[in-house]
Amino acid sequence: MNTVKVGEAPGKVILIGEHAVVYGHPAIAIPLRSVRSRAEVAVTRGPGIELDAPDIGERVRPGEQPTRRLAPLVRLAESVLDLFGERDVGLRIVLRSTVPIGRGMGSSASVSVALVRGICNALDRRLNADQISELANEAEKGFHGNPSGIDVTVIAHDAPVYFVRGKGSRSISVGPSRFHFVVADSGVAAPTSEVVAAVQEARDKDPARYDSYFWEIGSLASVSREILRTGSPPEMGLCMNRAHIALQQVGVSSPELDRLVVAALRHGALGAKLSGAGRGGAVIALLRDAADEEGITAELVKAGAQAIYTTALSSN
Ligand code: MEV
Repeated sequence: MNTVKVGEAPGKVILIGEHAVVYGHPAIAIPLRSVRSRAEVAVTRGPGIELDAPDIGERVRPGEQPTRRLAPLVRLAESVLDLFGERDVGLRIVLRSTVPIGRGMGSSASVSVALVRGICNALDRRLNADQISELANEAEKGFHGNPSGIDVTVIAHDAPVYFVRGKGSRSISVGPSRFHFVVADSGVAAPTSEVVAAVQEARDKDPARYDSYFWEIGSLASVSREILRTGSPPEMGLCMNRAHIALQQVGVSSPELDRLVVAALRHGALGAKLSGAGRGGAVIALLRDAADEEGITAELVKAGAQAIYTTALSSN
């Protein structure tokens, strides 16, 4: 039997800056480690790639035409083999993920990064986080058309990042305060590619108006970076609230997301906003402290949340 090697990757949430980041403004993203993707990879006699994704009930064998969803992943696996000059090698890959699809938690970026890591481990080769995110972003183009690159970057680095398209990422330094977040999944799936394309179309019709929203969102992201460093959760909450209003103006919120934001704010959150592409997906709320988690979680579930995750930013 061929040895099976494993590659893993977390999900992600965007703290602030979504959509504006597609147009060159800064954004901040955090890994979400309570959801994960896992690629089990075995080298076969090959050549050819067998890819099995049991969670979505899809599979491709060597020589077969991959499905629309598996095609970018097969191409990604081939690119990794090309990079290492191993085109004669075959691979058998089983890909699983607990990252919900279409909820702004980076499902496609997470499986892509897990896949690259799994192949590297199977071939006993190493790539750094920037190399992995560059490769995985090619697959993201197959899934999303025009990705900024923030999802693969935060997931490949597995660390909070301040990201500007084309300029790469910087790590975030967090001051003395602990920033404790809950992420509420609305249960509504919205494909990122469609939402990004709809925003692009709206912007093409009225660039001045949309660019002013993006400029504001980007400025909030850059102020937030400073707030995280100096440590004022209430100010961070204000930035999140303001960003949600700007995203409503961009047209990517929804009644379900607005209901979750209101529920979080009514029950003591310092700030709340949609996270990711919107029109479905998730909301991120900043708590006053961890003790509020249970109460706010209960209210978010009453307001329609299908699942709740937590994540935090602190100096250690
Ligand atoms: C998706 O997680 C965030 C968006 O800004 C799209 C992108 O950056 O590629 C909506």
